[in-house]
Amino acid sequence: MDGNGRWAQARRLPRVAGHRAGAGAVRRCIQAAIGSGVEWLTLYAFSSENWRRPVQEVGELTGLLRHYLRHELAELHREGVCLRVIGERERFDAEMRAEFERAERLTAGNTRLKLMIALSYGGRSDILRASLRLAEAVRVGAVDPERLDEAGFARFLSTDGIPDPDLMVRTSGEFRLSNFLLWQSAYAELVFLDVLWPDFGATHFADALDRYARRDRRFGARPG
Ligand code: FPP
Repeated sequence: MDGNGRWAQARRLPRVAGHRAGAGAVRRCIQAAIGSGVEWLTLYAFSSENWRRPVQEVGELTGLLRHYLRHELAELHREGVCLRVIGERERFDAEMRAEFERAERLTAGNTRLKLMIALSYGGRSDILRASLRLAEAVRVGAVDPERLDEAGFARFLSTDGIPDPDLMVRTSGEFRLSNFLLWQSAYAELVFLDVLWPDFGATHFADALDRYARRDRRFGARPG
């Protein structure tokens, strides 16, 4: 979800105004996913690297997320959304972690849309942390490294139980993954849209799905 800052700058507004408008685009994106029958949606809302932004912006972003979880949870629950937070959740304060747990507990049984919000998420950090957990599992004899395969490794990632993404969309005209789902995106189709995230809406969502539908996915196999 890239381009909040530029959206605000173009309007001579503070960056937080872009993030607030970005929260509106989050709502539109979730509605579009539900409307088009998408079952799994992951939103990259805060990266491990975003902690390096000015303290004020970090505070505004976490405040916005807290507000979103508090005030929109009931609506998400009504819509049948199952919410899960992925990322380094221990880097957030106890109050925020309690919000994550409350949201996950309330929506755990919902099946219409599985919504993952990536918070303090970094692909490299996810792989490193999975490796450390795996090393511990090997040490205590819970895993036999000789028998470990890719699916076995993936169980230690924060996305355990979540299918790999078929489609990855980045807004704002940048052509980068920026440390998002590095392991999981091995065969994802990439779509880069020239729209700033706060302007993202149903037509952009449909455009991304349409581009995806025209791709020929071979997963490394020979053309048939
Ligand atoms: C990237 O734009 C966006 C972020 C770092 C924050 C994303 C957060 C939201 C969309 C708001 C709330 C989210 C939820 C789930 C309610 P940028 O600030 O890097 O923009 P720039 O590249 O134009 O400076």
